[in-house]
Amino acid sequence: MSKSVAPVLVIHGGAGSSRTIDRRRLIAREQALKGILDAVYRALQRGSSALKAVALAVEMLEDDPQFNAGRGSKLQADGKIRMSAALMDGSRRRFAGAVNVEGVRNPIRLSERLLRNPPDGSRVLAGPGAARFARSQQLRFRSPYTDERKREFRRAGKGKFGTVGAVALDSKGRLAAATSTGGRGLEYPHRVSDTPTVAANYANSSCAVSATGVGEEIVDFAVASHLCSLRETGIGVARASRMLKQQADKSRARFGWIALDADGNFYVATTTAHIIWAAATAAKLEVHA
Ligand code: GLY
Repeated sequence: MSKSVAPVLVIHGGAGSSRTIDRRRLIAREQALKGILDAVYRALQRGSSALKAVALAVEMLEDDPQFNAGRGSKLQADGKIRMSAALMDGSRRRFAGAVNVEGVRNPIRLSERLLRNPPDGSRVLAGPGAARFARSQQLRFRSPYTDERKREFRRAGKGKFGTVGAVALDSKGRLAAATSTGGRGLEYPHRVSDTPTVAANYANSSCAVSATGVGEEIVDFAVASHLCSLRETGIGVARASRMLKQQADKSRARFGWIALDADGNFYVATTTAHIIWAAATAAKLEVHA
């Protein structure tokens, strides 16, 4: 009989170039992360799979307009919101993702359906094709536009933080990763972000990673898949992360990540000024907003 493992959950609400100083927003973000962590960690303790847990955590982050994913996504240069998300089941080494989809309430749920029920074996769909598949799956649609994002767009502001994500280890020792984004903000219409690629979202049987930051630079460093490859060679997530950070700092690349391994070790790193994250283990719950 396989022995039970203590679950671990790590979530992030994006890396940013500065830490917002507005105390009210800081408290609201802290409360949001804590609420999500509490609910999803409880589900993991009750036996939820890592895959279900990361999808639920990211769904909750997508539903919170404070974060740049789902409702609250940033607008592209033509004033449209196009969202992307990815989900990876580490135990089966299976990836699925949605690219630049419009109007779907939870792009992570679309990724989940693509993982579970890929049409014609296709696990990554883009634009209208992705929306059509979402409709065929009876997924919910909702406008992601918020007044705050529209104001930001009008002042040509990009907002301070980007992308949300989660990694989890469940009681059966399985790992999973989920990531969702509204993109960089003001980018060329239809630009493809790093989020629905293995550079930003990757999991196998030894490691799970979700990355946030400047998509092009995340792809250049293949952040998530690179870290998991290092972990597979026996290098711990902390050491692998420090090695990657050193290289990224040298190139002035701007991104951050959360990494978790099958022994329950996790590491959070960023080359930017700040990353919003929270983690729950059997021993403690921490929130860094
Ligand atoms: N990491 C989000 C983006 O650059 O699109």
